[in-house]
Amino acid sequence: ALVGKGNHRHFMAKEIAEQPEILSHAIATYVRPADEIVELPASTIDFASIDRLTISGCGTAYLAGLVARYWFESWAKLPVEIDIASELRYRDVPYGDNAAALFISQSGETADTLAALRDAKAAGAVVGAVVNVTESSMAREADGIFPIKAGPEIGVASTKAFTCQLATLASIAIAAGKARGTLTPTEEKRLVRGLLSIPRLMADVLVHDERIEELSHHLQPARDVLYLGRGVSFPLALEGALKLKEISYIHAEGYAAGELKHGPIALIDEHVPVVVIAPLDKHFDKTVSNMHEVIARGAKCLLLTSEEGAARAGYEEDLLGSFILPEVEPDLAPLLYAVPIQLLAYHTAVLKGTDVDQPRNLAKSVTVE
Ligand code: G6P
Repeated sequence: ALVGKGNHRHFMAKEIAEQPEILSHAIATYVRPADEIVELPASTIDFASIDRLTISGCGTAYLAGLVARYWFESWAKLPVEIDIASELRYRDVPYGDNAAALFISQSGETADTLAALRDAKAAGAVVGAVVNVTESSMAREADGIFPIKAGPEIGVASTKAFTCQLATLASIAIAAGKARGTLTPTEEKRLVRGLLSIPRLMADVLVHDERIEELSHHLQPARDVLYLGRGVSFPLALEGALKLKEISYIHAEGYAAGELKHGPIALIDEHVPVVVIAPLDKHFDKTVSNMHEVIARGAKCLLLTSEEGAARAGYEEDLLGSFILPEVEPDLAPLLYAVPIQLLAYHTAVLKGTDVDQPRNLAKSVTVE
């Protein structure tokens, strides 16, 4: 398909901006809005009869899986094992009799993920492919396909595929919870309503793009940047650091906020900006107290939170700045908080003058080991 950049300077900018629209299509694939229920395509995994789930992928796809682990555990009470595909394929994973495995890949062609999928299948696990390209090798070889419906993604750094992977995985996890009787109809409705609200909330966030651009001036001169989050925001911290590394070439690390004092706090000084991802969820107070710990050591923090979160966090005068997002269903916050994370990396890279759509040494799809 012929795809253009429209009015955008880069494919990445276009792909970030089109997320509200693209995501609503992805959600519509799995959700019946009128009834506020999830409905998966037939012939897939029988979640009621499995007793463990393995998830794998590479890069951003792996990080979507890391978010989904929290969902499958909490909504479907399903033990989840997750690893990057380049490790998983060389481990001797005892899949057991009632195992299912989900492999996440935008392209459906990443060599390591494909090999891990083949291994799991050979070991007797029921295998699902969460892919964007439905004619891909993974789609062909899996027992079930879960299309993410992101449309062609041209920018090497994944953006809309990530949020569509999240929407698809959230739908699968809700369906799993239903099948296993661990999610009540009321909870399903709440989550489905939450999912359906994301595109509109994303559009609200995108309107404030200029504010993110402003904040990116704080990252541009940095040599190192730290991203912190807890719970579902921890994988998002990893994704934020990955995006920044990939396209701006600034060294960045994502950390679980609670792990900070076990090492990375030693790096903290006024030259290492810290991006704190803190939606108003059950972890909020702990994350904020970790933020205060680094502020006390001279760190300059960028806080991503809601209006109420910002009021509760205080210390405004000690922050580099904050970015305010609308309130969101806490479990689904990664879908929304992904947007400022992507924009922060994007604007920082543009300021640095890098080749945003074609970063050095990276390929869109890695089909060799
Ligand atoms: C490459 C890309 C990443 C992507 C990863 C996995 O490293 O640069 O953006 O997340 O491959 O690709 P996949 O097609 O399997 O999702």
